[in-house]
Amino acid sequence: MGIARTRHTPDQTHPQTLIIIHALSNRSRGSNHVTQEYHPREKDIIPGGSSLMARAILFRTRASASFNYFQAWARGQSTIPLAQPVVELSAAERLEPRSPVVVTSEIPGPRSKELAARLGQYQNTDAVHFFVDYERSQGNYVVDVDGNCLLDIFTQIASLPLGYNHPRLVKAMQKPENMATVINRPALGSYPPVDYVERLQNSLLSVAPPGLRQVQTMGCGSCSVENGMKAINMAYQRRIRGPVPYTEEELQSCLVNRTPGSPKLSFLSFKNGFHGRTMGALSLTHAKWYVKLDFPAVDWPIAPFPQLRYPLEEFVRENHAEEQRCLEEVRDLIDTWDKRGEPVSGICIEPIQGDGGDNHASAGFFQGLQDICDETGVYLMFDEVQTGGGVSGKYWAHEHFSLRHAPHVVAFSKRMLSGGFYFADELRPKEGYRIFNTWTGDPTRLVLLEQVIKEVREEGLMANAELVGRYMLDSLKMLQCEFPGLVKNARGLGTLCAVDIRDAKTRAEVLRRMRNRGVNLGMCGVSGIRLRPSLLFKRRHVDIFLDRLRTTLAELK
Ligand SMILES: Cc1ncc(COP(=O)(O)O)c(C=O)c1O
Repeated sequence: MGIARTRHTPDQTHPQTLIIIHALSNRSRGSNHVTQEYHPREKDIIPGGSSLMARAILFRTRASASFNYFQAWARGQSTIPLAQPVVELSAAERLEPRSPVVVTSEIPGPRSKELAARLGQYQNTDAVHFFVDYERSQGNYVVDVDGNCLLDIFTQIASLPLGYNHPRLVKAMQKPENMATVINRPALGSYPPVDYVERLQNSLLSVAPPGLRQVQTMGCGSCSVENGMKAINMAYQRRIRGPVPYTEEELQSCLVNRTPGSPKLSFLSFKNGFHGRTMGALSLTHAKWYVKLDFPAVDWPIAPFPQLRYPLEEFVRENHAEEQRCLEEVRDLIDTWDKRGEPVSGICIEPIQGDGGDNHASAGFFQGLQDICDETGVYLMFDEVQTGGGVSGKYWAHEHFSLRHAPHVVAFSKRMLSGGFYFADELRPKEGYRIFNTWTGDPTRLVLLEQVIKEVREEGLMANAELVGRYMLDSLKMLQCEFPGLVKNARGLGTLCAVDIRDAKTRAEVLRRMRNRGVNLGMCGVSGIRLRPSLLFKRRHVDIFLDRLRTTLAELK
């Protein structure tokens, strides 16, 4: 039995039938309610069609402005209560599953394992969690190749602003006028496309951090940081050199890595910082051994990042002292390295240390750091690769710090879809090819980013991140009271939230059990759980997450 209705949408040439399969089962899997909506893929959309797939039971069709809900139990065995119109949901949310569904006894399931074994013939797969069916994944839910549907609170290592297959992005990619951008990836530094300036203005420049109006796109987070460092070093040398031409000695010595062309400058970074894996960025990275081991790194100054104690309100004095200690050390290091003849040209810092443990510091700490930079002539770079894009409740996390003026560089990637960095006017290179590589980014990503930014504005997603983040943090604090000793240090800004688990072994077990309950999480630091949901994450998602986390913690108590 089946019903299919034709949906006419003004922006589509062909009417299409939208089929949503809603599978219900009485099976109970721990706290999982086995309720699942599958969402139409291209092949499930039957133009003007009238047939149905086997277990298709619920069709949601749209007629003019209002929604009508239809139900049908494919085998005529049962009846489901008629769904209420959910007019408050956005187009993207209406496509999303209602809760996780786990269909294999563990994740990764057999198909994932089989694919991992095949891939294992050609590369190391130890970091593979599971194989994904990207076509079926939707919104906050990732569907794996075994048919498990997981609430994704790690979103491809914090890099999906609007979750999976957001209809607005799908539509942008289907537009014929965007096809040439997708097919012909340009060498942007030399042959930018006709609409490139407009694309930049409508995307990256429209959300530039206050006070910065120069931008350079790049491929990934590491090379964004790497090139931000280069821009800083060039500006530093320009300041020393003054308005004179380069000497022949400089031009020749740089070719063999010698002074004066390759100057002895240093870059200051922080313990537990993570800034990427290219050789320059790697020298600023101090989070995990397997990122660093066996690679030569430049010996540059490393300052302590404040180790705050929680709850913050109970340790105000101690935390202030800790931040002052770290700032003093920064000052000392700048002085020491200056005397050593390797002056610090720049400081690179994350507004919240991500990989290194979701370590926060106060606005006062960052203001103090900027003051030191101003006093010593050192450039300040914020690495917002993980914190940018609106999830903190502002587009850029450093906007929470009320700095006296803009930082010199703000590096981005991940949720911004394109890598790159914003920079102060004085950092603008004087010659072409100085900050450059073949692709220097990808304009296709800007097409998508433009749509992301529109969605963020129209749907108030930054305000949502702030509200949902607060709800999530409050709930985590409550959980901390329920499970003292097992969960601690709940912290967050917007939805950039984290907690620490008793120890690394228990953390691994929490992550494994949560995945088997249909929730995908990230980790950070020694025993931290890192939450990095999309901007579409709402209170109902927090509730699902917390419900399953509570069950898991109760088991491990
Ligand atoms: C703060 C930060 N900077 C830089 C990077 C490196 O980015 P990518 O992995 O895209 O090179 C990361 C990656 O996780 C990051 O979190």
